[in-house]
Amino acid sequence: MKFHGSDQYVATPDLMLAVNAAVTLQRPLLVKGEPGTGKTMLAEQVAQALGMPLLQWHIKSTTKAQQGLYEYDAVSRLRDSQLAGQGDERVKDIRNYIVKGVLWQAFTAEQPVALLIDEIDKADIEFPNDLLREIDRMEFYVYETRELVKARHRPIVFITSNNEKELPDAFLRRCFFHYIKFPDAQTMQRIVDVHFPTLKKDLLGAAMKTFYDVRNLPGIKKKPSTSELLDWLKLLVAEDIPLEALQSQDDKVAVPPLVGALLKNEQDVTLFEKLVFMQRHNR
Ligand SMILES: Nc1ncnc2c1ncn2[C@@H]1O[C@H](COP(=O)(O)OP(=O)(O)OP(=O)(O)O)[C@@H](O)[C@H]1O
Ligand SMILES: [Mg+2]
Repeated sequence: MKFHGSDQYVATPDLMLAVNAAVTLQRPLLVKGEPGTGKTMLAEQVAQALGMPLLQWHIKSTTKAQQGLYEYDAVSRLRDSQLAGQGDERVKDIRNYIVKGVLWQAFTAEQPVALLIDEIDKADIEFPNDLLREIDRMEFYVYETRELVKARHRPIVFITSNNEKELPDAFLRRCFFHYIKFPDAQTMQRIVDVHFPTLKKDLLGAAMKTFYDVRNLPGIKKKPSTSELLDWLKLLVAEDIPLEALQSQDDKVAVPPLVGALLKNEQDVTLFEKLVFMQRHNR
């Protein structure tokens, strides 16, 4: 089982190596990188390439580790017992009220699956620690029914983080780590080609130049990412923006159209306008 990228996803050699290393070690792949650099999509693409179903667990600030294992639905049980009265078989068996979480589903799936734990840094600090044993040993205990759930097949686990919180050392020890570096111009070109195979080369060239100019603005608060470049290109194509609107011809340096796809706050827009203004005066 080897991952080589796909026709919808550009994987650099170091990323492919990391995926295959995690698979070999049978450890979760912890993926970090700027927002929009393809962390979530990586899990989808690897699952697809290896022909595995993907189970996804999107983490929020309120998510608890236990929810990934199972939850006991006491409220339904109480309601059923009141409605059904005595003697209802369903109410008697607590197993009918145990709701399986994503990890349980992954562990007991018929075939090997991929499991995505997306944005683990959104949860509270205890969350990763609470999952150590499950991730390591691939098993957990259900106290209500006194049963041990063990993984039939070890799932391929992807964990993504946007670095909002530090992860505990004990957790890190159990993962293989990969940082998706922001794509260089050549890799970005390949990514854009995947999404817009028919885009005119000169328009793309001009758009890419503007994009990297914006990213390299000194003091910019929010750098635009891959997904924002793709959004912007989509708009340029949809609105049929001519090449001239992007190129800084002689005295006609202007703020590029639809720049709201790239710049997401007013300070950055002002900064960019200043740069354009200065360029115009330096000519
Ligand atoms: N290497 C790539 N190949 C093809 N498309 C890519 C690549 N990287 C990013 N993209 C595009 O960028 C979009 C955003 O990717 P994704 O949602 O995976 O980012 P993310 O890193 O999970 O971001 P966030 O941290 O905000 O969740 C994808 O839908 C895809 O269109
Ligand atoms: Mg994501």
